[in-house]
Amino acid sequence: MIFAFRSAGLNAVLFVKDLKVNIVLMGCPGAGKGTQSAKLQDVFHLKHISTGDVLRAEIASGSALGKEIAGIINKGNLVPDELMISILEKIVKATDKGIIFDGFPRTVAQAKALDEMMKRLQREITEVVMIELPESEVVSRIASRRQCRKCGEILHVAPDAPASSACPVCGGELYTRPDDTPERVKHRLEVYHTETLPVKNFYQNSGKYVEINGNQTPEQVFEDIVRVLKKVK
Ligand code: AP5
Ligand code: MG
Repeated sequence: MIFAFRSAGLNAVLFVKDLKVNIVLMGCPGAGKGTQSAKLQDVFHLKHISTGDVLRAEIASGSALGKEIAGIINKGNLVPDELMISILEKIVKATDKGIIFDGFPRTVAQAKALDEMMKRLQREITEVVMIELPESEVVSRIASRRQCRKCGEILHVAPDAPASSACPVCGGELYTRPDDTPERVKHRLEVYHTETLPVKNFYQNSGKYVEINGNQTPEQVFEDIVRVLKKVK
């Protein structure tokens, strides 16, 4: 069985389109940031910026920078802050839509740089949503993940799914990320603890920080996020 949440039907109340929010979506590896961002982007016409996807696209381009990045992220380490911030600023400047920041900021230095950048661009972060997931769930979730090379769809596959399954959305090739082996996931979790959890402290007293239980069905997580967005609309 291959499950694609983004294309599945939902009962969530759709209250407004073209939402002008700028959301930081936080959470450990496998928490469901990409899954939820894709749905939020579709429903509310937001711009989804996944720094992980941006870096993987640079790797796929075969550029010298991409080769350098592959050496870092395939080991589960973080790309240097300065590089990440300059890549991000170009993407933010190119859109006037509300934005979902997925996987950024990942360090306190990035969080400070994001605040400064948003001020410069006369925008602001409206909400910081932390998807909480017990670490005991992370390895098995990530082991079941496949991503489509063509449309980027994130899928949950059954352990007995054939290795060469096609994307149910576009027919593209499904692949397993090189940083998704159990050893690298363990290392990514360590990096998350040391580098990214302090970002939670950075936002916690901002009045914008909300925690969502990520250990529910994707539909329930989505509905909880929608409830948060209703309040900031
Ligand atoms: P990135 O791609 O952002 O990886 P990550 O943060 O480790 O998170 P994941 O993408 O693994 O998980 P997710 O939360 O998106 O979960 P998903 O929705 O896919 O970054 C990769 C690397 O790039 C980093 O390690 C770093 O090297 C580099 N990088 C990126 N940003 C950087 C930055 N700002 N600075 C420096 N370096 C940076 O879901 C996972 C699985 O669970 C899927 O199979 C999905 O179908 C399933 N699932 C989702 N929700 C549910 C649910 N509710 N119930 C059951 N299953 C679910
Ligand atoms: Mg992701």
